[in-house]
Amino acid sequence: MDTPLSRMNDPGDPCHKVRIMNFEGKTTVVTGAAGGIGEALARRFHAAGARVVVADRDAARLESVAASLNAIRPDSAFAVVADIGTEAGNIALIDAARNKFGFIHLFFANAGVAQGQFLENTDEDTWNMVMNINTHSHRWAAKHLIGDWLAAGEGYFCSTASAAGLLSQIGSATYSVSKHAAVAFAEWMSITYGDRGVRVTCLCPQGVNTNMLNPPGADDGIDKRGGDVVKASGAVLEPSDVADVVYNTIVEEKFLVMPHAEVHTFEQRKVADRDRWLAGMRKLQNRIFNG
Ligand SMILES: NC(=O)c1ccc[n+]([C@@H]2O[C@H](COP(=O)([O-])OP(=O)(O)OC[C@H]3O[C@@H](n4cnc5c(N)ncnc54)[C@H](O)[C@@H]3O)[C@@H](O)[C@H]2O)c1
Repeated sequence: MDTPLSRMNDPGDPCHKVRIMNFEGKTTVVTGAAGGIGEALARRFHAAGARVVVADRDAARLESVAASLNAIRPDSAFAVVADIGTEAGNIALIDAARNKFGFIHLFFANAGVAQGQFLENTDEDTWNMVMNINTHSHRWAAKHLIGDWLAAGEGYFCSTASAAGLLSQIGSATYSVSKHAAVAFAEWMSITYGDRGVRVTCLCPQGVNTNMLNPPGADDGIDKRGGDVVKASGAVLEPSDVADVVYNTIVEEKFLVMPHAEVHTFEQRKVADRDRWLAGMRKLQNRIFNG
């Protein structure tokens, strides 16, 4: 097994941080990599020398991402069409990535969906689908990575949650709950395995300029008010800027990535006075949803 990072996990080693910054030849898997934040993460770590397995259920866009990375460096990227909303899909992805490039050093559980709204208009199938993709996919991937990682004494798990996982998503119970659960799972991973060489980082952005925030097709019936709240709450960042922040955070081996500084302020206000914070959120909701 190719596990050169295993010698780099002794925090007492003065070269520890310097060595772990070397992503040259390291196998990196990114889900939801056909576009948006996932594609940007794949490009950022590929630029740092990683071999990248890009995964998505959108085959056409995914193949074009892999082809463009292979044009930069031959045989450095591999596309796996997978539905990560099932355990079988995660197993198939992990097996394909290992068969292609060997030991998986970094895994980005990034794919996500923003569907479902209020209790009255969100059916069981939507709840299950959102929880499977936004939350359970993280634990399914981790479940099938952890054996190798514990044996090697190393491995990096980075999940994309959301600022909605720290605060809330006005107008969407499914998104709020699934992203809070994603943050909780990442924290649990760090607490449980952090002292055994497994590093965990959790990305919690607010607005990012992707298809999720700006769905293509103006009249497709999608309720865009949730996105409008996000846009009204702060800056909308480009995916490549977010990927840069994630890269720097992983080099530092820090847990939380909050590319929007205001999220930190909102979180502090929430913890300081929850009732006041909830009243403010209700006010914002009324502005958006009641005109
Ligand atoms: N854009 C934002 O403002 C924002 C803010 C906070 C968090 N996020 C999170 O960032 C992550 C990436 O989203 P994005 O903004 O790049 O949106 P995006 O829609 O551009 O990317 C999501 C990708 O995930 C893929 N995907 C969805 N379900 C899948 C499945 N079952 N199997 C395989 N692939 C699947 C989609 O095909 C798509 O390519 C998501 O987890 C999202 O919740 C986004």
